Amino acid sequence: MTKLWGGRFQKSAEQWVDEFGASIEFDQKLVMEDIEGSKAHVKMLGACEILTEDDTALILSGLQTLKEKAAAGDLAYSSANEDIHLNLERFLIEEIGPVGGKLHTGRSRNDQVATDMHLYLKNRVGEIIEAVDNFQQAIVEQAESHVETIVPGYTHLQRAQPISFGHHLLTYFWMLQRDKERLSESLKRIDMSPLGAGAMSGTTFPIDRELAAEYLGFAGVYPNSIDAVSDRDFIVEFLSNASMLMMHMSRFAEEIILWSSEEFRFIELDDTFSTGSSIMPQKKNPDMAELIRGKTGRVYGNLFGLLTTLKGLPLAYNKDMQEDKEGMFDTVHTLMGSLPIFEGMVRTMTVRTDSMERAVSSDFSNATELADYLAAKGMPFREAHDVTGKLVFTCIQRGYYLKDLPFDDMKAASPLIEEDIYETLKPRTAVERRNSLGGTGFGQVHKQMEQAKTLVKH
Ligand code: ARG
Repeated sequence: MTKLWGGRFQKSAEQWVDEFGASIEFDQKLVMEDIEGSKAHVKMLGACEILTEDDTALILSGLQTLKEKAAAGDLAYSSANEDIHLNLERFLIEEIGPVGGKLHTGRSRNDQVATDMHLYLKNRVGEIIEAVDNFQQAIVEQAESHVETIVPGYTHLQRAQPISFGHHLLTYFWMLQRDKERLSESLKRIDMSPLGAGAMSGTTFPIDRELAAEYLGFAGVYPNSIDAVSDRDFIVEFLSNASMLMMHMSRFAEEIILWSSEEFRFIELDDTFSTGSSIMPQKKNPDMAELIRGKTGRVYGNLFGLLTTLKGLPLAYNKDMQEDKEGMFDTVHTLMGSLPIFEGMVRTMTVRTDSMERAVSSDFSNATELADYLAAKGMPFREAHDVTGKLVFTCIQRGYYLKDLPFDDMKAASPLIEEDIYETLKPRTAVERRNSLGGTGFGQVHKQMEQAKTLVKH
């Protein structure tokens, strides 16, 4: 079969060489976007009287047939036709005859492929934003039932201060909120049409790029034809936003894994989101959380892969850029798999408030309370820290916690300490009183929750 671009060639490449250069195996994912792009292009050619009404109508009907065949899975792609663009052009000519060859008037595969990628990402980013929003809702729901569930907060993975479990969960809400904002903001750069840039320099045909962009629902057009065909920043940006989102999910996954261990016992994952062991009958493994943590690596890989591919490319289009696709598809697939899984895991998990309570009442995470108590009575905080530290040491030596320390020992450490210290040391009191803006105090967490609810859809 002769190539659509075969005119100046005397010999054909062997099949294995063609196969190496072909992208049809993966860029067939762009079939619908490519057809939409072609429809808009040919409609615009008709409107600008570059094609006759008859030719325009015939090509449009041929494209419609291809669309139906694509939807039914009836297109037999071939690597001899290299990529989705040439495959479809070949099918079109088969469908409606040589007039199909007029579709490519004033267009190049370079602006065509860039248009496809913009269309594809625009839709997928919208779906991803939606999935992030759903995940956030699951977090808000769990957090809402656990505003008054007290759990140790950690720094350095050492017990630090008692906190509201709802407060802890909402932290992930805000991370995801920033992800959602970044994704939405990036749409500004995705929602732009390269179509009509031609191979790189525009075209001599009197086309109307803005009209074609309008047909495609793009908010604007690239002002520079060279930039239009060589820009892949919008994909890098997407991969970067996706990497950040995966990083957030990975941190949350790590906590889910820790919390569901026997050592923590803070949560139990639902059976429907856990797996067993083929040998150890007692096992209930947090595979889904581990897999999301693991998949974070491949998304980072996709980001670095594309950054490296683009580094050093001269303007304008280079075949290297064909390598932009698989990592992008893979990233979309990974996000659209991970987000609903995580959402389900959070929605269905059981929070073991009893173990949390046990944990928080058998540690020194209330030590700051004692130091603050003394500081509030006028002792310089540094001194209060030292007095408390010494009492902690005494407790460790005697094998109990601050709440068990006899009042005489407290009084000996500082005459400022009164009987009310035992109330102050209670984890619940500690949390309740942390009412500074954004703090873990119940009042603050409720306020935060109200704010969070205004940022999700339902
Ligand atoms: N398959 C190509 C890609 O994905 C389409 C653009 C090809 N352009 C060209 N001049 N060879 O990048």
